[in-house]
Amino acid sequence: MTSSNSASTKRRVFSGMQPSGEAHLGNYLGALRRWVDMQDEYDCVWCIVDDHAITGGGDPAELASNVIDLAVSFLAVGLDPERSIIFVQSDVHEHTELAWLFNAVTPVGELERMTQFKDKSQRFESIPAGILNYPILQAADVLLYKADAVPVGEDQRQHLELTREIARKFNAAYGETFPETEAIIEKDVGRIMGLDGEAKMSKSLGNTVAILSEPEQVWDRVRTAVTDPQRVRRTDPGRPEVCNVFSLHGFFTDADARADIDAKCRSAEIGCVDCKRILSDNIVTAFEPFRERAAHFRANPAAVRRILDDGAEKARSIAKTTMAEVRQKMGMDWRSSID
Ligand code: TRP
Repeated sequence: MTSSNSASTKRRVFSGMQPSGEAHLGNYLGALRRWVDMQDEYDCVWCIVDDHAITGGGDPAELASNVIDLAVSFLAVGLDPERSIIFVQSDVHEHTELAWLFNAVTPVGELERMTQFKDKSQRFESIPAGILNYPILQAADVLLYKADAVPVGEDQRQHLELTREIARKFNAAYGETFPETEAIIEKDVGRIMGLDGEAKMSKSLGNTVAILSEPEQVWDRVRTAVTDPQRVRRTDPGRPEVCNVFSLHGFFTDADARADIDAKCRSAEIGCVDCKRILSDNIVTAFEPFRERAAHFRANPAAVRRILDDGAEKARSIAKTTMAEVRQKMGMDWRSSID
């Protein structure tokens, strides 16, 4: 089964990102740059998942700015409201409704088996049900739009498998309704380590750099990056193959310049600071157009709100069609049988 959008023969993709403020380098390399490219080929739906963001607590006072900063980041990198549906999850109430209905077909054992649940639940003395049920809402996000495919990082593979299982179980219980959505896994993502060289890039770990940072802020972050741990002194020869900074050059520095850095690092002709300076400059250059577009949207918050409202309206019209079908199949349209 393919997407229900008869106006388009393109395959539909859906993906979501949690609002934790401005997007960072990891979000960009791991997700956003792919999403931007997909806009030509697919019928795209991009969602800011605020309902997901509150599952483990979080500061209510920060949610508004976190959502808007992520929306500005989306628009700044080139997600285009003319070509994609860009919206906020809680603007379309059908997400939480479908998630509730999916409770009926989701085995608790599967939820407890999720690696992310096991990791996250360790942080709580009393585990909120939202942490356990998180993947049900994610399945609802995807299946509400009958998405053919979902671009995600390796860490979401398991959640997508569960999404498919929920679709299968629903179809088996209530009749063929949902596609078995394919995961498009970005292979590089797993390998993009934070600037600390230890963990995946994440804002909360402070091992990344916000994509809309000013040039000096980019340098402040890149300067702290961990390099080859065996290169202690400036005169020690370095090993680019084990250096996290060198691997980041792979995204921002052309092949000739990389070969030059590689050779000069091995011969200790340049030091780590020199190498980081080049990386920082190249990141600043690559993100310059993003900063310009962001400035435009920051100066026009009403325009951002309008884009999100428009997106929600388009999303809702698809969501309503799916929900009518789901309610009917589950008997939740019982009202219509009462005269
Ligand atoms: N769980 C995803 C993450 O943390 C975000 C997300 C929510 C998502 N709903 C989604 C991703 C639907 C893909 C599809 O990255």
